Amino acid sequence: MPKIIIDGIEFDAPEGWTILDAARFLGIDIPTLCHHDELSPWGGCRLCLVEIGEGKKTKLVSSCTYPVEDGLVVRTATERVIKARKMMLELLISQCPTSKVLQDMAAKMGIEKVRFKPKWEDCIYCGLCVRMCEEQMMAKAIGFVNRGDKIRITTPFDKTSEVCRKCGACMYICPAIVLRCEGAEPKDVLCGGCLNVLQPTCLEVYGEYACWMGLKGECGTCVREEES
Ligand code: FES
Repeated sequence: MPKIIIDGIEFDAPEGWTILDAARFLGIDIPTLCHHDELSPWGGCRLCLVEIGEGKKTKLVSSCTYPVEDGLVVRTATERVIKARKMMLELLISQCPTSKVLQDMAAKMGIEKVRFKPKWEDCIYCGLCVRMCEEQMMAKAIGFVNRGDKIRITTPFDKTSEVCRKCGACMYICPAIVLRCEGAEPKDVLCGGCLNVLQPTCLEVYGEYACWMGLKGECGTCVREEES
Protein backbone atom coordinates (compact mmCIF):
# COMPACT_ATOMS: atom_id res chain seq x y z
CA MET A 1 0.00 0.00 0.00
CA PRO A 2 1.40 3.44 -0.87
CA LYS A 3 2.34 5.40 2.24
CA ILE A 4 1.29 9.00 1.99
CA ILE A 5 1.27 11.97 4.34
CA ILE A 6 -1.77 14.11 4.06
CA ASP A 7 -2.05 17.25 6.18
CA GLY A 8 0.56 15.72 8.46
CA ILE A 9 -1.30 12.42 8.86
CA GLU A 10 0.59 9.29 7.79
CA PHE A 11 -1.71 6.98 5.94
CA ASP A 12 -1.44 3.68 4.09
CA ALA A 13 -3.70 4.35 1.16
CA PRO A 14 -5.08 1.42 -0.80
CA GLU A 15 -3.63 0.99 -4.27
CA GLY A 16 -5.73 2.70 -6.92
CA TRP A 17 -7.07 5.41 -4.64
CA THR A 18 -6.86 9.07 -5.51
CA ILE A 19 -5.81 11.82 -3.12
CA LEU A 20 -9.48 12.74 -2.84
CA ASP A 21 -10.38 9.19 -1.78
CA ALA A 22 -7.73 9.29 0.93
CA ALA A 23 -8.74 12.74 2.13
CA ARG A 24 -12.39 11.76 2.37
CA PHE A 25 -11.52 8.57 4.20
CA LEU A 26 -9.65 10.67 6.77
CA GLY A 27 -12.48 13.18 7.05
CA ILE A 28 -10.60 15.96 5.32
CA ASP A 29 -12.93 18.22 3.40
CA ILE A 30 -12.00 19.05 -0.19
CA PRO A 31 -14.53 20.86 -2.39
CA THR A 32 -15.50 19.12 -5.63
CA LEU A 33 -17.73 19.99 -8.50
CA CYS A 34 -17.11 17.89 -11.59
CA HIS A 35 -16.39 14.80 -9.51
CA HIS A 36 -19.08 12.23 -8.77
CA ASP A 37 -18.38 8.95 -7.00
CA GLU A 38 -20.45 6.97 -9.50
CA LEU A 39 -18.92 8.53 -12.61
CA SER A 40 -15.49 8.29 -14.16
CA PRO A 41 -12.94 10.92 -13.04
CA TRP A 42 -12.87 14.04 -15.14
CA GLY A 43 -10.57 16.62 -13.55
CA GLY A 44 -12.20 19.57 -15.26
CA CYS A 45 -13.27 22.11 -12.63
CA ARG A 46 -10.03 22.23 -10.61
CA LEU A 47 -11.91 23.07 -7.43
CA CYS A 48 -10.42 20.07 -5.68
CA LEU A 49 -6.86 21.37 -6.00
CA VAL A 50 -4.33 20.35 -3.36
CA GLU A 51 -0.62 21.00 -3.03
CA ILE A 52 1.78 18.09 -3.33
CA GLY A 53 5.50 17.83 -2.75
CA GLU A 54 7.86 19.40 -0.24
CA GLY A 55 10.11 22.43 0.06
CA LYS A 56 10.34 24.45 -3.09
CA LYS A 57 9.21 21.61 -5.28
CA THR A 58 5.51 21.75 -4.74
CA LYS A 59 2.72 21.89 -7.25
CA LEU A 60 -1.04 22.04 -7.41
CA VAL A 61 -2.89 19.00 -8.68
CA SER A 62 -6.52 17.94 -8.95
CA SER A 63 -7.07 15.59 -6.04
CA CYS A 64 -9.95 13.78 -7.75
CA THR A 65 -7.70 12.44 -10.49
CA TYR A 66 -4.25 12.28 -8.89
CA PRO A 67 -3.42 8.72 -7.77
CA VAL A 68 -1.77 8.09 -4.43
CA GLU A 69 1.84 7.01 -4.67
CA ASP A 70 4.42 5.99 -2.12
CA GLY A 71 6.01 8.94 -0.31
CA LEU A 72 3.46 11.47 -1.56
CA VAL A 73 3.13 14.49 0.70
CA VAL A 74 -0.16 16.34 0.35
CA ARG A 75 -1.42 19.54 1.88
CA THR A 76 -5.07 20.31 1.32
CA ALA A 77 -5.54 23.78 2.75
CA THR A 78 -2.45 25.91 2.22
CA GLU A 79 -2.77 29.57 1.33
CA ARG A 80 -1.84 28.75 -2.25
CA VAL A 81 -4.50 26.05 -2.45
CA ILE A 82 -7.26 28.22 -1.01
CA LYS A 83 -6.34 31.11 -3.28
CA ALA A 84 -6.31 28.91 -6.38
CA ARG A 85 -9.63 27.25 -5.52
CA LYS A 86 -11.25 30.63 -4.97
CA MET A 87 -10.02 31.87 -8.30
CA MET A 88 -11.29 28.77 -10.09
CA LEU A 89 -14.67 29.16 -8.46
CA GLU A 90 -14.84 32.85 -9.33
CA LEU A 91 -14.13 31.97 -12.95
CA LEU A 92 -16.90 29.39 -12.95
CA ILE A 93 -19.33 31.80 -11.33
CA SER A 94 -18.51 34.47 -13.86
CA GLN A 95 -19.37 31.95 -16.56
CA CYS A 96 -22.65 30.93 -15.00
CA PRO A 97 -23.63 33.42 -12.28
CA THR A 98 -27.12 32.01 -11.72
CA SER A 99 -25.97 28.58 -10.60
CA LYS A 100 -27.16 27.98 -7.07
CA VAL A 101 -24.64 25.19 -6.62
CA LEU A 102 -21.81 27.60 -7.42
CA GLN A 103 -23.31 30.32 -5.27
CA ASP A 104 -23.53 27.96 -2.30
CA MET A 105 -19.94 26.88 -2.80
CA ALA A 106 -18.85 30.51 -2.96
CA ALA A 107 -20.65 31.25 0.30
CA LYS A 108 -18.94 28.29 1.94
CA MET A 109 -15.55 29.46 0.72
CA GLY A 110 -16.17 33.00 1.90
CA ILE A 111 -16.23 34.55 -1.57
CA GLU A 112 -18.20 37.76 -1.46
CA LYS A 113 -17.20 39.31 -4.73
CA VAL A 114 -16.34 37.89 -8.13
CA ARG A 115 -13.47 39.64 -9.87
CA PHE A 116 -14.41 38.52 -13.37
CA LYS A 117 -17.02 39.91 -15.70
CA PRO A 118 -20.17 37.74 -15.88
CA LYS A 119 -20.65 35.89 -19.16
CA TRP A 120 -24.16 34.64 -18.37
CA GLU A 121 -23.63 31.29 -20.01
CA ASP A 122 -25.69 28.30 -19.04
CA CYS A 123 -22.96 25.66 -18.91
CA ILE A 124 -19.65 25.31 -17.12
CA TYR A 125 -18.59 22.26 -19.14
CA CYS A 126 -18.03 20.08 -16.12
CA GLY A 127 -19.09 17.08 -18.22
CA LEU A 128 -21.31 15.64 -15.49
CA CYS A 129 -24.37 15.41 -17.78
CA VAL A 130 -22.38 13.73 -20.55
CA ARG A 131 -20.88 11.15 -18.21
CA MET A 132 -24.19 10.58 -16.45
CA CYS A 133 -25.96 9.98 -19.76
CA GLU A 134 -23.32 7.57 -21.01
CA GLU A 135 -22.18 5.78 -17.88
CA GLN A 136 -25.29 5.55 -15.73
CA MET A 137 -28.17 5.86 -18.17
CA MET A 138 -26.32 3.95 -20.92
CA ALA A 139 -27.73 6.30 -23.52
CA LYS A 140 -24.89 8.45 -24.95
CA ALA A 141 -27.54 10.89 -26.13
CA ILE A 142 -25.37 13.98 -25.60
CA GLY A 143 -21.71 14.83 -25.94
CA PHE A 144 -19.19 17.62 -26.36
CA VAL A 145 -18.67 19.23 -29.74
CA ASN A 146 -15.97 21.70 -30.79
CA ARG A 147 -13.12 22.97 -28.63
CA GLY A 148 -12.00 26.14 -26.89
CA ASP A 149 -14.46 29.02 -27.06
CA LYS A 150 -16.78 27.08 -29.32
CA ILE A 151 -17.18 24.06 -27.07
CA ARG A 152 -20.73 23.05 -26.24
CA ILE A 153 -22.80 20.06 -25.27
CA THR A 154 -25.43 18.82 -27.63
CA THR A 155 -27.03 15.81 -29.29
CA PRO A 156 -25.41 14.27 -32.39
CA PHE A 157 -25.79 16.70 -35.29
CA ASP A 158 -27.95 18.91 -33.04
CA LYS A 159 -30.91 16.71 -33.88
CA THR A 160 -33.48 15.28 -31.49
CA SER A 161 -31.78 12.21 -30.14
CA GLU A 162 -33.38 8.86 -30.80
CA VAL A 163 -31.69 7.34 -27.79
CA CYS A 164 -32.69 10.02 -25.30
CA ARG A 165 -35.34 8.63 -22.97
CA LYS A 166 -35.98 12.03 -21.37
CA CYS A 167 -35.04 10.52 -18.04
CA GLY A 168 -33.92 13.89 -16.72
CA ALA A 169 -30.64 12.53 -15.31
CA CYS A 170 -28.61 15.18 -17.13
CA MET A 171 -30.77 17.87 -15.59
CA TYR A 172 -30.62 16.30 -12.16
CA ILE A 173 -26.85 16.31 -12.08
CA CYS A 174 -26.23 19.67 -13.75
CA PRO A 175 -24.64 22.17 -11.31
CA ALA A 176 -25.48 25.01 -13.64
CA ILE A 177 -29.13 23.99 -13.40
CA VAL A 178 -30.02 25.11 -16.84
CA LEU A 179 -33.59 23.94 -16.83
CA ARG A 180 -35.81 26.17 -14.77
CA CYS A 181 -39.34 25.54 -13.67
CA GLU A 182 -41.84 27.65 -15.53
CA GLY A 183 -44.58 27.67 -12.94
CA ALA A 184 -47.28 25.79 -11.15
CA GLU A 185 -49.14 24.57 -14.24
CA PRO A 186 -48.84 20.78 -14.70
CA LYS A 187 -47.49 21.18 -18.21
CA ASP A 188 -44.72 23.52 -17.09
CA VAL A 189 -43.39 22.09 -13.85
CA LEU A 190 -40.20 20.12 -13.68
CA CYS A 191 -40.67 18.07 -10.56
CA GLY A 192 -44.35 18.42 -9.69
CA GLY A 193 -43.46 19.37 -6.11
CA CYS A 194 -45.52 22.53 -6.25
CA LEU A 195 -48.56 20.61 -7.43
CA ASN A 196 -48.57 18.60 -4.24
CA VAL A 197 -48.52 21.42 -1.72
CA LEU A 198 -51.68 23.23 -0.74
CA GLN A 199 -50.40 26.60 -1.78
CA PRO A 200 -47.89 26.42 -4.58
CA THR A 201 -45.08 28.68 -3.51
CA CYS A 202 -43.22 29.28 -6.73
CA LEU A 203 -44.90 32.08 -8.55
CA GLU A 204 -46.97 33.44 -5.69
CA VAL A 205 -44.07 33.90 -3.33
CA TYR A 206 -41.25 34.53 -5.69
CA GLY A 207 -42.96 36.34 -8.54
CA GLU A 208 -40.71 36.12 -11.51
CA TYR A 209 -38.19 34.05 -9.62
CA ALA A 210 -37.84 30.62 -11.20
CA CYS A 211 -37.54 27.43 -9.19
CA TRP A 212 -34.32 25.55 -9.08
CA MET A 213 -33.99 21.81 -8.86
CA GLY A 214 -32.88 20.42 -5.53
CA LEU A 215 -30.19 17.79 -5.18
CA LYS A 216 -32.63 14.92 -5.23
CA GLY A 217 -34.43 16.24 -8.27
CA GLU A 218 -37.10 17.88 -6.14
CA CYS A 219 -38.09 21.50 -6.28
CA GLY A 220 -35.67 23.35 -4.05
CA THR A 221 -38.02 26.27 -3.67
CA CYS A 222 -41.07 24.27 -2.57
CA VAL A 223 -39.13 22.05 -0.21
CA ARG A 224 -37.47 25.04 1.38
CA GLU A 225 -40.85 26.64 1.91
CA GLU A 226 -42.37 23.52 3.39
CA GLU A 227 -39.48 23.08 5.81
CA SER A 228 -39.51 26.65 7.05
S1 FES B 1 -13.67 17.91 -8.66
FE1 FES B 1 -11.62 17.54 -9.16
S2 FES B 1 -11.31 18.67 -10.95
FE2 FES B 1 -13.41 18.93 -10.55
